[in-house]
Amino acid sequence: MNGVSGIRRRYVDRTARSLELWREFSDILVDGNTRSLAFYEPHPLVIVSGRGAVVSDADDNTYFDLLNNYTALVHGNAHPALMEAAAAVMGTGTVFPAPHALQARHAAMLRERIAGTEVVRYTNSGTEAAMLAVRVARAATGRDIVAKARFGYHGGFDGLVPNSERIDPGVPRATADLLRVFEFNDSADMKRVCREAGSDLAAIVLEPLLGSGGAVPGTATFMRDARALADELGALLILDEVQTFRLDPAGLQAVLGVTADLTVLGKLIGGGFPVGAVAGPRHLLDALSIRSPQHVNHAGTFNGNLVSMAAGIRAMELLGTGEIARLNSGGEALASATKSALVSSGLPGTVTGFGSMFNLHIGAEVGTVRTGSDATGQDTALMELFHLALLNEGVFAAPRGFFNTSTVLSDEDLATVSGGIRRALAAVAEESQRSSYPTGG
Ligand SMILES: Cc1ncc(COP(=O)(O)O)c(C=O)c1O
Repeated sequence: MNGVSGIRRRYVDRTARSLELWREFSDILVDGNTRSLAFYEPHPLVIVSGRGAVVSDADDNTYFDLLNNYTALVHGNAHPALMEAAAAVMGTGTVFPAPHALQARHAAMLRERIAGTEVVRYTNSGTEAAMLAVRVARAATGRDIVAKARFGYHGGFDGLVPNSERIDPGVPRATADLLRVFEFNDSADMKRVCREAGSDLAAIVLEPLLGSGGAVPGTATFMRDARALADELGALLILDEVQTFRLDPAGLQAVLGVTADLTVLGKLIGGGFPVGAVAGPRHLLDALSIRSPQHVNHAGTFNGNLVSMAAGIRAMELLGTGEIARLNSGGEALASATKSALVSSGLPGTVTGFGSMFNLHIGAEVGTVRTGSDATGQDTALMELFHLALLNEGVFAAPRGFFNTSTVLSDEDLATVSGGIRRALAAVAEESQRSSYPTGG
């Protein structure tokens, strides 16, 4: 279509108050919000509340939440049990520069679940946890270089620059120089890159499933090769399970048959509040002990704050083996319905993912997605259109086509979401056929 897209016009028509508020906020907030990915064209929704599986915008539209703050809200929005746990502790204080039983209880739950965990250290975010894990690895090995997967995401830490193809102008050259990048799920490339660093390599840092990189699961072979390679080179294997801890009680590493030296955690373990953690064996994390003469200093005013600890304990209690299996099977059914809707729409593309996390990739270049680079073949214009079409259908998901399910989505909700995805894809297919809508990536 030459001219204005019908999908886009409909989005603009139903979100007038969001636009008005977002413009007002932009006067004081960069892009009107607080994180890069919360912006999308033509303007983001202003979400005013969330309850269970539904979020509401400033125009009183409601949406099924298939984003769940990028996997953190595994039990949906404002889950009563989590909110009660948070409220109960708030009455007795929120954080002290002192040890607390809730921190020890939370850590004991992580130790019970994650292989190789003897002790835990808390941070305020997944980013900080990744930073801390790298510092511990450097201290433990006396080496500087860190290797990560292309399009692996570990938060905003300079030392693990988010997108290796475009070095952030804010990252010092010297820091970027300490990073090596290899292709995800490509053992030969990983071996080549890591062996080149050789005895300078402190750690290999990997997500067991590329989350931001397109919900691409690591293969068991690749993950085991990473484990063997780290051992061969005397480096640590750091696995980032900030998102993937929701996929198995012991993390996705257990499913893939590997054990990390250090596991980085965040998101769901805070029960909806800010959190990060590094879990691992005592002989490594003791590098943080102030009683060691050569310790790595680790500060943080709100580390292990009691609200996150209390809500996080409740979130994990409600996420046992059976519940994770139910969550995953709901996600898998929705992913498979999405794939058939994609085929029916006639649009090119694919669906990747594992359990409760999946990504729809639209574009002629994304027939198979095995690596992070494969996922960059998405047709940006069609993805943007699909995202708006999906919002018009009352489904809130990521602009890049990422979805994740929560435990509070019922089978009926999932069927409604599935219908919304199908209609959104059909609308995009129709609009792109009728038009000369640009489809370049
Ligand atoms: C795999 C992974 N690691 C680390 C982070 C950073 O966590 P945070 O946003 O809490 O700093 C994220 C955030 O999305 C993530 O997905």
